[in-house]
Amino acid sequence: MTPQKTILRALAGEVLPTPPIWMMRQAGRYLPEYRATRAQAGDFLSLCYNSELAAEVTLQPIRRYGFDAAILFADILLLPQALGADLWFETGEGPRLSTITTAAELAAMKPADAIHDHLAPVYETLRILTRELPAETTLIGFAGAPWTVATYMIGGKGTPDQAPAHALKAENRAVFEGVIDLLTESTIHYLSAQIDAGAEVVKIFDSWAGSLKGQDFHDFAVEPARQITAALKAKYPHVPVIAFPRGAGTAYEGLHAAIGAECIAIDDGVTPEWAAAHVQTGGCVQGNLASSHMVTGGDTLVTETRRVVQAFSKGPHIFNLGHGITPDADPENVQLMIDTVRGA
Ligand code: CP3
Repeated sequence: MTPQKTILRALAGEVLPTPPIWMMRQAGRYLPEYRATRAQAGDFLSLCYNSELAAEVTLQPIRRYGFDAAILFADILLLPQALGADLWFETGEGPRLSTITTAAELAAMKPADAIHDHLAPVYETLRILTRELPAETTLIGFAGAPWTVATYMIGGKGTPDQAPAHALKAENRAVFEGVIDLLTESTIHYLSAQIDAGAEVVKIFDSWAGSLKGQDFHDFAVEPARQITAALKAKYPHVPVIAFPRGAGTAYEGLHAAIGAECIAIDDGVTPEWAAAHVQTGGCVQGNLASSHMVTGGDTLVTETRRVVQAFSKGPHIFNLGHGITPDADPENVQLMIDTVRGA
């Protein structure tokens, strides 16, 4: 059966005259309606666990802009919380977690399949969205990749160079690999449950893949994503997977085959021309306009948007930013990007 939704068509390898479009962090602080709903929920985590309000903020950018995909509103750090880690957000600073660096702390985590009671509100958000989204909009579920989630669990917060996770990898390989394995297994359970609740596509966010080099990139970015994708394909052969190993650079080449994913999401650390020649040859790509254009706008936004569309026009492409939109972005620049992509 040929899929009708444009995102699913691109993921099936079709070259569309206009690329479908969505945007990482499309529900977020740059939108006044998001800030209002977050205030209503109380704080960010309360918003994530309030299914009605999480569905509402997921729908806000769809109503405002008519994006071709909606991404579940949640966070990659809900999974470690479901495994037993403490999680809180420091205002203006970002996430904080209880750390895991010893065998005893690893052993104290819950088993990989014991996450579902805690994450039930996330699954409910997806069920609401399957009823409320427009018929043409694709619903994307997601999880963090094991390495990226591990960097937060090991460091207890966001770390610019992921030094604590690299240190554990060097100093206590067994515990480090235990964390990666627990996250790989629990992510398979988590994404399976998201698909059961209505996600039509799943995306694996590996925001810090770029700090893994050589064999480490293979072992801890490619291999966990391959295992997750293979396990999902065994159960849900029809559900496309988007992998986003951000900062992979030249290692983006060959990743469709290495991971087994229908789509590789590309950041703006590589040019669209390079990615078209070296990555899109393997399948659908998503990306890769620099998110700074959503702040600066103007003629450069238009020129660079056209450049990305043009560079990827010979193969399957989903238009997106190279990373999430930032809170200081101007909502009007988002409209200008969409109008430019759609040729208005
Ligand atoms: O893309 C979407 O709109 C879907 C929802 C989503 C969020 N986070 C909401 C969010 C998704 C897919 C994520 C993924 C995520 N979360 C990643 C991977 C992608 C990336 O951006 O690199 C990471 C590393 C996290 C962890 C995380 N969550 C951090 C480091 C922060 C703080 C930084 C920040 O932007 O404030 C968050 C908070 C967060 N997650 C916000 C949103 C909308 C902002 C919270 C707020 O409203 O104050």
